[in-house]
Amino acid sequence: MSIVNDMNLAESGRRKIQWVRDFMPALSEIEQRFAREKPFEGLRIAVSVHLEAKTANLGLVLKAGGAEVSLTGSNPLSTQDDVAAGLASMGVETFGIHGASAEEYEAHLVETLKNKPHLIVDDGGDLIHLLGGHCRDYGTEIIGGCEETTTGILRLRARERDGILPCPMVAVNDAKAKHYYDNKYGTGQSVWDAVMHISNLIVAGKTVVVAGYGWCGKGVAMRAAGMGANVIVTEIDPFKALDATMHGYRVMKMEEAAPLGDVFVTVTGCRDVITPAHFEKMKHNALLCNAGHFDCEVDVAGLSKMAIRQELRRDSIVGYTLSDGRVLNVAAEGRLVNLAAGNGHPAEIMDMSFAVQALTLEWLVKNREHLECRVYEVPDVIDQEIAVSKLSSLGLSVDTLTEAQRAYLDGWSGE
Ligand SMILES: NC(=O)c1ccc[n+]([C@@H]2O[C@H](COP(=O)([O-])OP(=O)(O)OC[C@H]3O[C@@H](n4cnc5c(N)ncnc54)[C@H](O)[C@@H]3O)[C@@H](O)[C@H]2O)c1
Repeated sequence: MSIVNDMNLAESGRRKIQWVRDFMPALSEIEQRFAREKPFEGLRIAVSVHLEAKTANLGLVLKAGGAEVSLTGSNPLSTQDDVAAGLASMGVETFGIHGASAEEYEAHLVETLKNKPHLIVDDGGDLIHLLGGHCRDYGTEIIGGCEETTTGILRLRARERDGILPCPMVAVNDAKAKHYYDNKYGTGQSVWDAVMHISNLIVAGKTVVVAGYGWCGKGVAMRAAGMGANVIVTEIDPFKALDATMHGYRVMKMEEAAPLGDVFVTVTGCRDVITPAHFEKMKHNALLCNAGHFDCEVDVAGLSKMAIRQELRRDSIVGYTLSDGRVLNVAAEGRLVNLAAGNGHPAEIMDMSFAVQALTLEWLVKNREHLECRVYEVPDVIDQEIAVSKLSSLGLSVDTLTEAQRAYLDGWSGE
């Protein structure tokens, strides 16, 4: 039985789910085929992805494909109680409560695995962590799974290296149809959507420090610059740093950026990116946000120790007063701001990411006899199919190579 906060919220949740379904055409096309072909008939799927409307839609698409689906969140603050109730009311076993404690959050993950899944969809590696640990008995029938995000894939590869990957996993994040759009344009928009909403402040004219110029960081920096911010990038990779300078951003170390920034966004997937040494130098009323997967990028515990007082200043913003009177503001407890204090990526973006998930799960089932416990790439045909489907849903198409062009590109003679 589902565990949600309040089933009375189901109608609001169903409205949100219905809204996004209208803007996820690639996934709708897949859903219609799944409903006919039932690729997951007799199979159980456990999903741990931020429990909001687009994820709920993925759950419904897998259900339409014949699966028995159980679904939980991937961060206690990103779970939306109305969506959880709405999804539960639509026949998907749902476990998640906004603001759950660490223990409750893990209990919901465990409940999700109790269906003894054949397939899993993970976002950040929590399900895999449990299946490789004290929940291994729930994984005896597993065929494989998909991982949604960069940080989760780093961990999968570390498990693969150490020979402790509990089942075959596919790196969905690394599909072009995922990270080219989701990480860049999705994070680029949804981070600023959340920051502007929770702060009610202007971005134009502010100095915005973006830590990490990877796929997500590029999007966050681009949209900040587009709204008129002065963008500073901090990096550890000299090539990414050069890329940022050629986009016109200033590049420097965090210790130099700390006194300059009005808004900070960490999006590195690394830990201890902003620490007490940086807090010492920051301006009064700086706003600190994280968009990386885990809440270890901004050392909020360290800031809390330095502070003489802390208070809720607006919903999702806590102000830490330091002994010299400066206040540093932390958004969403240092958890990924766009999901913990916002609605996550736009539906049109998650359409592509979740289309990759749906087709990759189907691929796992079709190839179940040949899979080993390793990390697989998403097959190219899946990537291509989604790009073409998305383009056509936008009424767009691309040219096709002629035979002569193909021979020219494949050949060495230049003819
Ligand atoms: N908020 C969201 O909705 C969302 C969406 C997708 C991914 N993510 C998460 O965001 C994080 C980044 O993902 P990505 O796809 O951009 O990864 P990426 O690997 O493309 O980029 C990360 C960048 O951070 C840099 N970096 C690493 N450690 C650093 C440090 N200490 N200081 C400065 N720079 C550092 C790396 O050199 C790299 O360029 C991951 O945790 C990922 O799981 C969040």
